[in-house]
Amino acid sequence: MKISLSTESVTHISTEILVLGILEKGVGKDDDVVKLDKAMSGALMQHVKDEGFTGKEGETLKVPARGRVKASWIVLVGLGSCVSHADGIRLASVIGARSVRRQKTIAVRVPEATEALVRAGAEGLTTGPYRYDRFFTGNRKPKGGLKKAVLLVPSLAERFSNAVEEGVIVGEAINVARDLVNGPPNVINPPALADFAAEACSQYGVTCDVWGKAQIEAAGMPLFLAVNAGSGVEPRLIHMSWTPKNSKKRVVFVGKGLTFDSGGLCLKPAKAMAHMKCDMGGAATTIGAVLAAARLKLPIEVHGVIGSTENMTGSFAYRPGDVYSSYDGKTVEIANTDAEGRLVLADVLAWARELEPDFMIDHATLTGACMVALGPWTAGLYANDPELLEMYYASSTQSGESLWKMPLDDDLKKTLASDIADLKHISSLPYGGSITAALFLSEFVGKTRWAHLDIAGPSFTEKEHEYLPQGGTGFGVSTAVAFLEQIS
Ligand code: BES
Ligand code: MN
Ligand code: ZN
Repeated sequence: MKISLSTESVTHISTEILVLGILEKGVGKDDDVVKLDKAMSGALMQHVKDEGFTGKEGETLKVPARGRVKASWIVLVGLGSCVSHADGIRLASVIGARSVRRQKTIAVRVPEATEALVRAGAEGLTTGPYRYDRFFTGNRKPKGGLKKAVLLVPSLAERFSNAVEEGVIVGEAINVARDLVNGPPNVINPPALADFAAEACSQYGVTCDVWGKAQIEAAGMPLFLAVNAGSGVEPRLIHMSWTPKNSKKRVVFVGKGLTFDSGGLCLKPAKAMAHMKCDMGGAATTIGAVLAAARLKLPIEVHGVIGSTENMTGSFAYRPGDVYSSYDGKTVEIANTDAEGRLVLADVLAWARELEPDFMIDHATLTGACMVALGPWTAGLYANDPELLEMYYASSTQSGESLWKMPLDDDLKKTLASDIADLKHISSLPYGGSITAALFLSEFVGKTRWAHLDIAGPSFTEKEHEYLPQGGTGFGVSTAVAFLEQIS
């Protein structure tokens, strides 16, 4: 799909779908709605009244124009009380693009001419039409979809074309992450995930080193290997690096890449296991963020390090009661084989910190507890550095993703004590599950300035991304990009 800019008026733009974002109760006061309504001899506001459209967040009204203006359909999208204009445009673009059925062309009104709004519109137009349709055959196979999108701006400027391109790059990075998370676990296994990363990196000038089991063994990552032991598929450590000449800072993203989490010997019940192809969501975010950084040519050295394995129940599977050493040297007593993500991350974080980054940020579908606390669309944000915590949170208000600051409560650390090893990997308390998982990770990052995002996985898969607020991002990809831009 091609996205272009135009200063054409809402009554004269020739398009099948014309989208206008409307704040709650603002529909009658909207100049463009008034203009369109006049041209349509009152038919637009009549529809608004008949259908009771008030502009509540996510509400839509699709009105046929029947030749009275150049557009074939007017689509009003409720923005509620959206405080950020960028969030509003992103949401209108996403929902507008999803309202498309057979049409090929769409135009979205951008009420103010700023780079941020143009970029948000381009991002929404890129993520909105997303469907995971790789495995459909016959008449469910995709039939083309949107061909042409226009952002209607009050005035044009050279820099807006860059903003369109940036929005598309971020949107495509989000879609890459979605494709990976939606990918079935028999298809996206650790070797396939690594192959995908290597191939994508080669397209954008990003280096990609992939380690197999022998190299992971040689490097000394016993916790990572313990998780892999029950699987018939080899693990992979994936290390992507974008190293521009003009780099000002070094950032390392780390991702949990469990391509399937059965729970291991502490087997998950069938219902909980059903979603567990999503357990490489952190890896997907990491890949999307590194690719976007490279495509945006950000002046930051950006690394992405992923520990990828399945958690399975084969006869060599690790057991509750086992004790392993770690890359860092600390010994760990295994209490529950379903708390596997923090073990993989402990070794990978300890290794990645040797890259001496200014900031290290991991993304992981780490705990069900975080979803219980924050719901399926908000990620828990932790940091061992108060400044980084605020900086990262600020990035999420730019990107429109939903993060919530969580406490690394030191008092809970003692609940990770083991009788026979340096640490137990789960808490002795049934409370604060997301916090104690983050505390366990914090034991392996040393003094590196580090942030951790406990992200929800299942809501990124299948149809559920359609219900995500602010246009359905939610992975952390666009927040990661906003963070890199903030420190550029
Ligand atoms: N991958 C899961 C966490 C998860 C659960 C992500 C549901 C998305 C949706 C993780 O490996 C896990 O199983 N965590 C356990 C930890 C427990 C055994 C301490 C959990 O959350 O139940
Ligand atoms: Mn698990
Ligand atoms: Zn897991």
